[in-house]
Amino acid sequence: MGKVKVIAHRGASAHAPENTLPAIDLAVEHGADLVEIDVRRTLDGELAVIHDPTLERTTDAARAFPGRARYDVAGFTLAEIRSLDAGSWFGPAFAGVRVPTLHEVLTALAGRAGLLLEVKDPASAPGIAADLRAVLDAAGWLGGGPAGPLVVQSADWQFVNAFHLLLPGVPVGLLGGPPPPQEIDGAAGWAHCINPKNTKVTADLVHRVHSGGMVLWPYTVDNPRRMRELIALGVDGIITNRPALLAEVLAGS
Ligand code: G3P
Ligand code: CA
Repeated sequence: MGKVKVIAHRGASAHAPENTLPAIDLAVEHGADLVEIDVRRTLDGELAVIHDPTLERTTDAARAFPGRARYDVAGFTLAEIRSLDAGSWFGPAFAGVRVPTLHEVLTALAGRAGLLLEVKDPASAPGIAADLRAVLDAAGWLGGGPAGPLVVQSADWQFVNAFHLLLPGVPVGLLGGPPPPQEIDGAAGWAHCINPKNTKVTADLVHRVHSGGMVLWPYTVDNPRRMRELIALGVDGIITNRPALLAEVLAGS
């Protein structure tokens, strides 16, 4: 078994605003092997790094654009989204932090850590696989360059399969579930990882995933006792808001 991967959920999101460059930088400083981010498409077809389908929770959109009936990411241009404050909600020290583009994150991470890129709601953004390919290519993350390991995941398994067919050289992950046993066996030929909620992990699941030559990266675990339990069960990585804590647990195990 290789080293258990430290995967920082939305960056070091216990310590900095999720899915922002400060959270990503901190994740690298805290020992993350990979940083997990969420990607959505804006009104003008750009790829922005943000978790929710709407802007209100993690930005000041309602203050900056008063009177809008809805605050969907897909209803705002990238320039509008970039004008928002995506840090103050977390704390005054992060006032003025912006929603990053995927390209910015790829540039910030290149050569420093890997990327676990989650595509949110791909069915609502037809053609997003080709958009991703263009941005990944422009940033030098395709073709085995020095950028870093890249895994693309989604809870939309049909999209994951379509993305794999478009870019067979990029490892892909099936998020959520986990898939039923026959589907796990069927994914063995093309998927790199199965990433379920941590409470779903059993010894049988670990065995089945490993029998298919895949790895298991459960989410989201911030409790050291649960981290140790999962490590004992044989998981290959853990997705956490606290990468420094997981690195510490691993150093002591
Ligand atoms: O990578 C696992 C995790 O990110 C899935 O849940 O809602 O945080 O995107 P969510
Ligand atoms: Ca995610």
